[in-house]
Amino acid sequence: MQISHDVLIVGSGAAGLYAAYWASTKADVAVMSKLFPTRSHTGAAQGGIGAALGNEEEDKPLWHWFDTIKGGDYLGDQDAMRTLCYDAPQTIYELEHLGVPFSRTDEGKIAQRPFGGHTRNFGERAVRRACYAADRTGHVILHTLYENCVKQDVHFYSEFQILDLLFNEDKSKCVGAVAYDMLSGETHTVHAKVVVLATGGSCKNYATTSNCQANTGDAFGIMLKNGLPLEDMEFIQFHPTGLAGLGILVTEGARGEGGFLTNSEGERFMERYAPTVKDLAPRDMVAQCMYKEVLEGRGIHKTSRICQEDYVYLNLMHLGKEELMKKLPEISDFATTYLGIKPWDEPVPVMPTAHYIMGGIPTDPDGRVKLNEQGDIIEGLYAAGECACVSVHGANRLGTNSLLDLVVFGRRVGLHVAKNVDALNLGSLPKYPEAAIEADIKRIKENGSSKEKHGQLRKELAEVMMEKCSVNRTEESLTACRDEVLKLRERYQQCGIDDQGAVFNSDLLEALELGFMIDYSLVQIEGALIRKESRGAHLRLDGPDGGQMPRDDENFLKHTYAWLNQDGSVKLEWGKVHLIQDDPEGSWEPDLIEKMKPKERKY
Ligand code: FUM
Repeated sequence: MQISHDVLIVGSGAAGLYAAYWASTKADVAVMSKLFPTRSHTGAAQGGIGAALGNEEEDKPLWHWFDTIKGGDYLGDQDAMRTLCYDAPQTIYELEHLGVPFSRTDEGKIAQRPFGGHTRNFGERAVRRACYAADRTGHVILHTLYENCVKQDVHFYSEFQILDLLFNEDKSKCVGAVAYDMLSGETHTVHAKVVVLATGGSCKNYATTSNCQANTGDAFGIMLKNGLPLEDMEFIQFHPTGLAGLGILVTEGARGEGGFLTNSEGERFMERYAPTVKDLAPRDMVAQCMYKEVLEGRGIHKTSRICQEDYVYLNLMHLGKEELMKKLPEISDFATTYLGIKPWDEPVPVMPTAHYIMGGIPTDPDGRVKLNEQGDIIEGLYAAGECACVSVHGANRLGTNSLLDLVVFGRRVGLHVAKNVDALNLGSLPKYPEAAIEADIKRIKENGSSKEKHGQLRKELAEVMMEKCSVNRTEESLTACRDEVLKLRERYQQCGIDDQGAVFNSDLLEALELGFMIDYSLVQIEGALIRKESRGAHLRLDGPDGGQMPRDDENFLKHTYAWLNQDGSVKLEWGKVHLIQDDPEGSWEPDLIEKMKPKERKY
């Protein structure tokens, strides 16, 4: 079957749905997703969405901007970060008017709570900036946007897996995509003037992760297969508080509401590392400190069936059952259901969990996909949300800036598409089946059941990434990781499946996802190898005296752009970080330029 729409949006999380909502004011829009839309991973975002509304205390977008720059360890593009923080208030009010049921202050304003790395007045103390709906903030945003898209007659293709993109002959223009209908097992070409990639996160290549089953970075794999670059892929965020042994997210909002971490000595150890904001330091610091405590023997050692490793405690008992059930019902339920721990009675065992990718598909602030660091674009191809890298998170994203990224840039993409779609023409569709993915499907099916199994290969990939390309990294661990993933890539050629049927063939789909995961893992490892410094979430522990490598602005204050060669090797180029100090057209106050300049991070 051939499907045709003005606009094809791939992915139905908040970024895809907000883009669809605005694009559909001017064009015929389809959203294609491998899930039913309201099951998208946005629904798992818990604690809040950042915006300097100043509802609970004085706050300013300027302070939010400063915190985002500093939190990202100065690797983010400061112009794009400004857009994120200054677009935030109007976007939140628009969401409120679309129907998002935020929690309220006594006066009826949108309620706000503190979150890691968000401060008042350039780092003075923590500030209440995270707008929230209990600990189900992503869930309510996702449902509200879905309902609004339905109202606007957006066409939904649920349980369709995107397999490839289609381009015109000279690859200057994206003209559609190839999609697999899970129900029938049929492959379709989709012809569109505009394709928006909004496929979400990719942390399923780690053994311990807060990510849902669907977060296999499919768009990353598709970009690489098409000879297109990914940016800053070495920066992977570990959220400090995953349920120990499971990785299920316990929101940072729990620490925003007064929760704190302790080690085996009962010490509130974050007071030592971040005396001003303590447990509300940014995530990279908290996760690294937790590992340090454990490695230095101050982890809690009560292994169980669920958890074999040491961990630390998240203390919430002092908040009491009533407050926990009102403000943090979801995580109270998770701790009770999965660990048998009632957080009002006992501390909760936690350790960092792979949560978020700071890098991704390079885009400009309107979501147009960039071909290189010079900013050349491909007509008709956009990306938004976690799979995109507008470079608003630098080397470490602040909590609550992810939901914000989804809605600010999803909305901007939708508006940009609405404004420009009429001027585009459909272009001619290349003959199908030319997509290389057909060959992959054929090979996997023909390999049959006697060869390598994707489940086993996936397990090995997740384990080696977790062990060797995780919070702590060294040249030795990363080199070994690359060797092992390259071997997995070879074995993947032999990967076969038992199920040869057409209907809901998850055996085939999981095998295809694995191919994408192996490819972008190689890019992540190579970026981590070449970056011989510690910055944000990238911690190199093979420094000169066997200690931590320092941040090195002279040599590494730059982005990585990566392409995957057919043999699995990676070509890397460096890109300039946009700092306001270098902005030739900027009329920034000297005092502000000084504040935003890279310097040592202290909290
Ligand atoms: O901790 C959390 O609620 C997660 C939020 C985020 O990743 O921004």
